[in-house]
Amino acid sequence: MRQRAEGSREAARLNNRGRSGQDAGMGNRSAAAELASEQRAFREAWPDYEATAALDDLRAREFARLDADGHVYLDYTGGGLYGDSQIRLHLDLLRSRVLGNPHSANPASMISTELVEAARRHVLSFFRASPDEYCVIFTANASHALKLVGESYPFAPHGRFLLTFDNHNSVNGIREFARARGAETRYIPVLPPDLRADPAALLAALDERDAAAPSLVAYPAQSNFSGVQHPLAWIGAAQERGWDVLLDAAAFVPTNRLDLSRARPDFVVLSFYKMFGHPTGAGALVARRAALEKLHRPWFAGGTISVASVGADRYVPAPGASAFEDGTLDYGNLPAVDIGLQFVEAAGLDLIHRRVRALAGWLIEQLLSLRHGTRRPLVTLYGPATLEARGATLAFNFHDASGRFIDHQSIEARAGDRRISLRSGCFCNPGAGELALGLSPQTMSNCFAQSPERMTYADFRRCVDSGSSGAVRISLGIASNVADAHAFVTFAREFLL
Ligand SMILES: Cc1ncc(COP(=O)(O)O)c(C=O)c1O
Repeated sequence: MRQRAEGSREAARLNNRGRSGQDAGMGNRSAAAELASEQRAFREAWPDYEATAALDDLRAREFARLDADGHVYLDYTGGGLYGDSQIRLHLDLLRSRVLGNPHSANPASMISTELVEAARRHVLSFFRASPDEYCVIFTANASHALKLVGESYPFAPHGRFLLTFDNHNSVNGIREFARARGAETRYIPVLPPDLRADPAALLAALDERDAAAPSLVAYPAQSNFSGVQHPLAWIGAAQERGWDVLLDAAAFVPTNRLDLSRARPDFVVLSFYKMFGHPTGAGALVARRAALEKLHRPWFAGGTISVASVGADRYVPAPGASAFEDGTLDYGNLPAVDIGLQFVEAAGLDLIHRRVRALAGWLIEQLLSLRHGTRRPLVTLYGPATLEARGATLAFNFHDASGRFIDHQSIEARAGDRRISLRSGCFCNPGAGELALGLSPQTMSNCFAQSPERMTYADFRRCVDSGSSGAVRISLGIASNVADAHAFVTFAREFLL
């Protein structure tokens, strides 16, 4: 509490001191002195940050390209960054080992198999998942993992697909599989301003399951729109009521510990590039073995069968994970998953968590304290304004002095001019966007009706007119530091009138 109160006072002090850097008090102070003073103030208000100083050394050692390039990277929820040594180690491995297609038993093949299996074991141990209970299916990304579940889940009439409004489109898309097989899709809204789901509404929906039909509930451990972290306790509550649980952990795991010995979802999806930048093109479905048994793949492919016959028109699926890994695994890149996990472990996931929390807390206070001369706020934040059950992903819009939206795409473009990488739009999370921005189902239906052929994003932007069709998002990760956060607040102050 003390920390927050001091942070708020400091935010107000900075805000009063200078709009657009034009106030007299700022005039003769150099930018460097200004930065140093703000960083001191930040460290006093957020003493927890000091304990994460090892990550400053890590940034200097492993992420020097950020500062060499003058880059302020604020899109970790879009994609994580890799450290130099990850690439070095991966390159060394590729240059020194003879890797062959793992579908054989020759020596080159065996080396690939060994490396891929080491990565698989490491994924399980990283998430504290028992190999007796869970297995790892390597996929191209989280979306691919979600498609595997969607296309194979035994949806049927009277069955349900239940999900929160703030799911990524790759989870929303599963409703098309549910619909095709006669199961009902039901959404639980997330409520502004915090964009959390009402637990009572969720429990009531969970209680309504038809015991005879398989039913799946899906939600993000952390929303990639609002940063909300939904309770992992929902997993057990749903399972007790007979539901299978799909946890989208893609936005959560880069900066939070997921312990599968405590929460035991049936299916967990993630993308490794969001955790440690390299390799791109690799993700996983971490599935309970028992839950995997319920899935039926709609086809077979090389690698997914024990035996198949053309003459007899029969096939027998391979056991466990193999039945879900189509064709040849990305055996050149998967060893880099092992390297990436080692990298995060050496950096310390808990340290990363503490750092991004402190920075997110400071950013929230700073941004919410910014006011135009008219006293109108510059920023509307979508999602919790405190650190309670939220991650370091912040979505918001900027407003002009009379309260009108400043176009989110123009903010992204102006940030780009300052070498600040952030994201704008709805981040493939239309449900959270619609509820945050007050776009009713009727408004959305009208927009679709106005462009019956094929609505483009430009059509949609025109349709919502004076409202906003999206937001700005900044997100923090392993290499984030106070200078990045400060650079963004300085950028935001440019919009004050
Ligand atoms: C919460 C969440 N789920 C799923 C995805 C999809 O990940 P990918 O694009 O790597 O398949 C994302 C990507 O941003 C995400 O943030």
